Amino acid sequence: MNTFDKIYIMKKYCIVLSLSFFGFACGSNSNAKTETKEAAKPVTSVMDNPDYEKGLNLVAKSDCFTCHKLRETSIGPAYGLVAAKYENNQENQEKLAAKVIAGGQGVWGQIPMIPHPKLSKEDAIAMVKYILLLKEETK
Ligand code: HEC
Repeated sequence: MNTFDKIYIMKKYCIVLSLSFFGFACGSNSNAKTETKEAAKPVTSVMDNPDYEKGLNLVAKSDCFTCHKLRETSIGPAYGLVAAKYENNQENQEKLAAKVIAGGQGVWGQIPMIPHPKLSKEDAIAMVKYILLLKEETK
C-alpha cells in the first residue's frame, strides 16, 4: 500500500466517522426538541380535575344527555354555553343545582327542564361543577 492509498483510506474513514457523528448529533438534537415540546404542553386539563369525572359519571347515569349535548344546543342549552354564561363559583353551583332539582324555564327559552326531585343536592352540585368546567375546553 503506498502513501497515497493510505491517505485515501484515512480520508474515507474520517468522512464516515464524521457523517455518523453528524447523524448522531442530529438524532439526539431532534429528540431534545420533542422533549421540550412535551414539557411545554399544559400539564393540566379539565379532565384531570376530580370534579370532571365525578360529575360526568352522574350526568351520564341520569337523563341529562337526553336533552343536553356538550357543544350543540339540543332541547336544552349546550353545556359549553351554560359554562360560558356562569362563572364557576359556589353561588352559581348552588343556584344551578337547585334549578336542576326543581326544573324550570325562561333562562334559555320557553322549553322547560323537567324537575329531578330524586337527585340529592350533593349530586346535583357535582353535576353542575362538571358542566361549568366545560368552558375551558373550548379555549
Ligand atoms: C327534558 C329535557 C331536559 C333534561 C332531561 C335535562 N335538562 Fe337541563 N335544561 C333543559 C332546558 C330546556 C333548559 C333551559 C331552561 C331555561 O331556559 O331556563 C335546561 C337548563 C339547564 C341548565 C342551565 C340552567 C340555567 O338556569 O341556566 C343546567 C345547568 C342543566 N339544564 C343541567 C341539567 C342536568 C344536570 C340534567 C340531568 C340531571 C338536566 N339538565 C336534564 C332541559 C333538560
